[in-house]
Amino acid sequence: MQLQKNISLKKFNSFGIDCIARDFVIFKSNNELIEIAESFQNSILDSHFILGGGSNILFTSKKIDCIVLKNELCGIQLLRENEEAFFVAVAAGENWHQFVLTCIENGWAGVENLSLIPGNVGASPIQNIGAYGVEIKDVIESVEAYHIADKCFQTFSAAELDFDYRDSIFKSRWKNQFIISKVIFRLNKVPNFKISYGSIDAELEKMGIQTLSIRAISDAVIRIRSSKLPNPALIGNAGSFFKNPSILKQDFDQLKIQFPEIIGYTNKNGSIKIAAGWLIEKAGWKGFREGDAGCHANQALVLVNYGNATGSEIFTLSEKIIESIHKEFGILLEREVNIY
Ligand code: EPU
Repeated sequence: MQLQKNISLKKFNSFGIDCIARDFVIFKSNNELIEIAESFQNSILDSHFILGGGSNILFTSKKIDCIVLKNELCGIQLLRENEEAFFVAVAAGENWHQFVLTCIENGWAGVENLSLIPGNVGASPIQNIGAYGVEIKDVIESVEAYHIADKCFQTFSAAELDFDYRDSIFKSRWKNQFIISKVIFRLNKVPNFKISYGSIDAELEKMGIQTLSIRAISDAVIRIRSSKLPNPALIGNAGSFFKNPSILKQDFDQLKIQFPEIIGYTNKNGSIKIAAGWLIEKAGWKGFREGDAGCHANQALVLVNYGNATGSEIFTLSEKIIESIHKEFGILLEREVNIY
């Protein structure tokens, strides 16, 4: 463990924003985390920033004037199994997609629809990552996290974490209080295939798949995502920049009169979740570029950095989009990406 000064975070965030960390330290074990928490106690308590895979963050200032803690805890361990499931502990610094591939290799079912999501395992419960009809909350048994003020590790069952659409207690009541160290997953022995979302079934047919398997679903999801979403290694981005907003059924019905092609899905509580990508495209932003900040040409929900955009340029573009969607449809978009 070594404290470094004035480190550029450009290669540590998928938007590729150049931002300087005043203090920067990597921890690779629970002991190192405890050591940091004790030695830098005051600065951590005052102000700190936990960096995982850096795939859901937009840095808007040139410098982060606090300590940045980079979580590189590693390890995947099969803890136990019962008749239905395997219980697997995964350290927070593991790469999410590599973990999904390990599941496919071992026949652990449940996360195949979440293939190719960028970022690390530790961030997955914070925003309840989701895609193609599956959310991480469906497979989380518990989460282990270090409480910074109390200096101890605690374990929480999924039920305690207030999971919701792209949301959890770590984003609200417990914000900045914990450092997630481990996620324990409950993965099925017999897969429960979900192929009706986002044209997975059509993709499987194109691939000529006769017998369903978690590997086939993972491959189909990888093909769909690669065709629509920009690869952060080539074009800076953080996946969906906005959440899909939910509105009242009566408001949706009104909009539908004016825009018959509007896309909405009924939530369990009867409200309607609107495809924000459709709204943004309809408002004319898809493929828009101003300097190096842009709205992706294949998926309007994704904002991109073509090279040297600053975080505040991307943020300004997001403001303009929010304003324009509000004006055109009366809907207020919320950012999904964390702004720092
Ligand atoms: N659409 C458009 N124009 C666009 C983008 C989308 O008309 O530019 C339409 C599509 O044709 C489709 C609908 O909107 O009918 C939904 O699009 P898509 O299936 O691409 O999914 P999404 O709602 O835009 C969500 C998640 C993604 C996840 C996909 C697949 C959110 C904020 N985003 O996107 O998650 O991969 O579903 O399940 O919920 C992420 O969170 O970073 C992310 C990429």
